[in-house]
Amino acid sequence: MRVGIIGGTGPQGRGLALRFAGAGHSVLIGSRDPAQAIQSAATLAGGFPELTPPEGGSNDDVANRSDVVVIAVPWAAHEEMVRTLAPYLRGKVVVDCVNPLAFDARGPRPILLVEGSAAAQAQALLPDSRVVAAFHHLAAGMLLAGLTPLEHEDILLAGNEAAAKETVQELCQAITGHRGIDAGSLHNAGPLEAMTSVLLAVNKTYRVKSGIQLTGMPAR
Ligand SMILES: NC(=O)c1ccc[n+]([C@@H]2O[C@H](COP(=O)([O-])OP(=O)(O)OC[C@H]3O[C@@H](n4cnc5c(N)ncnc54)[C@H](OP(=O)(O)O)[C@@H]3O)[C@@H](O)[C@H]2O)c1
Repeated sequence: MRVGIIGGTGPQGRGLALRFAGAGHSVLIGSRDPAQAIQSAATLAGGFPELTPPEGGSNDDVANRSDVVVIAVPWAAHEEMVRTLAPYLRGKVVVDCVNPLAFDARGPRPILLVEGSAAAQAQALLPDSRVVAAFHHLAAGMLLAGLTPLEHEDILLAGNEAAAKETVQELCQAITGHRGIDAGSLHNAGPLEAMTSVLLAVNKTYRVKSGIQLTGMPAR
C-alpha cells in the first residue's frame, strides 16, 4: 500500500512510518514544511538501512499521492487539517489516530465531543472518504524502538465500512504481526480514543508503556 502520514514528523507519525516501511509499504511523510518532512524521512531511512526509504512532502502532496492516509496531528489541529485536506481524500481510506485529551493537575482526561469522537468528526467532514479509527493505544516510543513486531499488542479499530476496516486490519500486520481487531462502527471510536487517557494514567503510576490485549479471542 502507499501510505501517507499527515503530521508524519511527530513521534507517532514517525513510528507508524517506520513500521509501515519496515513491512514493505511505500510510505510518504507529510508536514506543513516539506523540508522538515524530507529531513524526517531521511533520518528514519538512515537509522534503518533495510527500509524502503520513506519520502517526505507537504501534507497536501502526501494526501494527494497516497492510497491510505493517516491523520497524526495534535487534536487542536485536527478539524482544520481535515477540512484543508478534504479535496485530496475523496474515496480514500483515512485512518484517524488522534486522541482528544486534556490534561490538568489530576492527569489526563478525554475531551467529550458533540460528534462522539475525532474520527466521527473526520467522517462528518469527509462524507466521500472512508474513515477508520485506529492506532490510538500504541505508544510512539514503542513504535520507534525498532522493527521487532509488537506481537503482544492488539490494535482495535472502528469504522463504518467493512472494506475500509479490512484494509486497516491488514496494515496492522506491519506493527504487531497480526491483524487488527474490528471493534465495530465509528460509534465506538470515542471509547477507543478515551481509553488512551486510562493508559496514560497507568503509564504514569507504574512508569510503563502500557498497551491493549483482549482476552477470549480466537488463537492468532
Ligand atoms: N505520541 C504518542 O505516543 C501517540 C500515541 C497514539 C496516538 N497519538 C496521537 O497521534 C497524534 C500525533 O501525536 P504526536 O505525539 O506525534 O503529536 P505531535 O508531535 O504534537 O504532532 C505531530 C505533528 O503534527 C504537526 N503539527 C503540530 N501542530 C500542528 C498544527 N497546529 N497544525 C498542523 N500540524 C501541526 C507537526 O508537524 P509539522 O510541524 O512537521 O507540520 C508535528 O510534528 C496525536 O493526535 C495523538 O493524540 C499519539
